Amino acid sequence: MSDRKKVSLPALFKKVSEGKPITMLTCYDYPTAHFQEQAEVDMILVGDSLGMTMLGFDSTLPVTMDDMIRHAQAVRRGSPNAWLIGDMPYMSYQPSVETAIRSAGRFMAEASCDAIKLEGGAEMADRMAGIVAAGIPAMGHLGLTPQSAGALGGFKLQGKGALQAKKILDDAKALEEAGAFAILLELVPDRLCKLITERAENCFIIALGSGLDAHGQLLIYHDMFGLYPKFKPRMAKVYADAGNVIQEGLNQYVEEVTKRSFPKEENWFGMPDEEYEELMRLISE
Ligand code: KIV
Repeated sequence: MSDRKKVSLPALFKKVSEGKPITMLTCYDYPTAHFQEQAEVDMILVGDSLGMTMLGFDSTLPVTMDDMIRHAQAVRRGSPNAWLIGDMPYMSYQPSVETAIRSAGRFMAEASCDAIKLEGGAEMADRMAGIVAAGIPAMGHLGLTPQSAGALGGFKLQGKGALQAKKILDDAKALEEAGAFAILLELVPDRLCKLITERAENCFIIALGSGLDAHGQLLIYHDMFGLYPKFKPRMAKVYADAGNVIQEGLNQYVEEVTKRSFPKEENWFGMPDEEYEELMRLISE
């Protein structure tokens, strides 16, 4: 067990002011959270990407608040000290400021999260401001925002052209002014990410597939370890092909059970002769 201190917002801003990059990963379950806690990951996002990585949907849209709370609780049990961010699922904040505050409050009260994240720019600034006014730290998410992947033309680079890049830049300012403590830039060009990072005054910028010039980096855990079978995005680095290792283990298990070479004596427990004889006697009575 590590003896790390609980990560706080002042500690994160201190890291930023010292020019030290912030580490952030997605996480959806207890054992993975335990490993991330041991690695001292600064910020953990319980992403609604769990709809795809854990539940097998083709998008994040079917994910509910109850799904998110269940997973966030498990992650918190595995990682008591990381700065834990609950990702607001589809339609948990879009309908109104009040809906947004109530959903954000659930992450804090029911799953001991430290903050929430929501997708969208200037059009979501009032939701962001409402949540922050309720005392809940909130993170923005711009660029490729998976809940609007359909409207954005799929899971692809955003802000490549100057006009769209300007809109993302303005959206980042609107979120910062609404009180966001951080903004995630997913899949935008590196130069745009650098510009937004340089202009951020009261919030820090986390990049996902958006280059090196941000205050920190995020990766999707399942992409890092080859655990998502449907596709491997270019922005992800595979740190270890755990998916392959697991597949080989499963194939071997099926083969060994089929051939009766598993289990072996060290995998089971015996019964003393006298107890067995007594059992036989009892059965035959
Ligand atoms: O749900 C999620 O994991 C996210 C990432 C794609 C950033 O929002």
